[in-house]
Amino acid sequence: MTVCDRLRPFGTTIFTEISRLAAEHRAINLAQGFPDFDGPEHVKQAAIEAVRAGHSQYARMAGTLELCRSVADYFSREAGLSFNPETDITVTAGCTEAIAAALLGLLNPGDEVILFEPYYDSYRASVALAGGVPRFVTLRGPGFEFDPAELSRAVSPRTRAVLVNTPHNPTGRVFTRGELQSIADLCLRHGLVAIVDEVYERLVYGGPSSHVRLASLPGMAERTLTLSSLGKTFSLTGWKIGWAVGPAELSSAVRAAHQFLTFAVSTPMQHAAAAALDSPPAYFDELVTSYRSKRDFLADSLRRIGFTFRDPEGSYFIYADHRPVSARLGLTTDVEMSKHLIERIGVAAIPPSVFYEDKAEGSKYLRFAFCKKDETLAAAVERLRSLA
Ligand SMILES: Cc1ncc(COP(=O)(O)O)c(C=O)c1O
Repeated sequence: MTVCDRLRPFGTTIFTEISRLAAEHRAINLAQGFPDFDGPEHVKQAAIEAVRAGHSQYARMAGTLELCRSVADYFSREAGLSFNPETDITVTAGCTEAIAAALLGLLNPGDEVILFEPYYDSYRASVALAGGVPRFVTLRGPGFEFDPAELSRAVSPRTRAVLVNTPHNPTGRVFTRGELQSIADLCLRHGLVAIVDEVYERLVYGGPSSHVRLASLPGMAERTLTLSSLGKTFSLTGWKIGWAVGPAELSSAVRAAHQFLTFAVSTPMQHAAAAALDSPPAYFDELVTSYRSKRDFLADSLRRIGFTFRDPEGSYFIYADHRPVSARLGLTTDVEMSKHLIERIGVAAIPPSVFYEDKAEGSKYLRFAFCKKDETLAAAVERLRSLA
């Protein structure tokens, strides 16, 4: 009755619902994608020092210049791309706000945005908030590649943008250079803006494709907004510091919305975020080594139980076809299987059909997060073994 028409269809996010059910049944939570361990000491120390130094008042609207410079340096080191810290970088309340601000800033009512499904759930809602219309391209198992012809067919005279997430949540895919090139070709041909969510940019495990930045492909720096955040790379999901990076013209659209959404985000945490981005290479190497071993442990265990999937090349999720296991239990859908796991086995995983328009496609899978302590993963596997 009280929620407006634009938002009513989205209800409560699946993460809130599953986390509540998991708590009620004391299930081990491999559902929501946040670490159950803390972020790095040097970044926490930088936050403490920023608070003590009295960095307590509103920051510059688009972000502290110190952090904007760190983001620009990071992009120039990592991608060889040059951005102006004053005009091309906007600091947001996590990547979630960057997604919303980009769409609110760019879309006119009725403008279409191409989304790949399964999609991160805020995409669909943010398109709706902005008065836009989503068009879907499905990543189909077992490989979760997209069909370039289906992508081309999704374009219409109203298409304004294509929203890409690589490394991809929930499938764990890292889009290949070839796939990104076909997205780039489409954007160049039709004059589209590319919005790329790269929150898992550092969580890549050396599969067939390494992470390629769409903005680094020829002609794309001028038409790409790259979004990311501190949360996944630094195991600090609760700090909610993110950024949007793109040419001044696109950044001005992000800022037009950001100034009225949050105006500016937490000043001391921006100081700490700058310290985080300046971390030595060893920090990033150790993060990947640790996650690769967690991935291998959970993948091996889930396979022995009967789940089928390709090892994720990136992100911290295993996206498993549950049907060989659920069929033994007389269950069919992802929601039934997820409820069974929470209530009878004591482990929570996400039922992903909510991330699809094609619910039947999504209903085959469950998403397990491995961003957990080794002992948490071991305890979950101990429980899951009863399914074997
Ligand atoms: C693909 C994707 N984008 C964005 C986010 C949210 O990022 P943040 O916590 O920085 O808002 C998540 C978090 O799970 C995600 O998986």
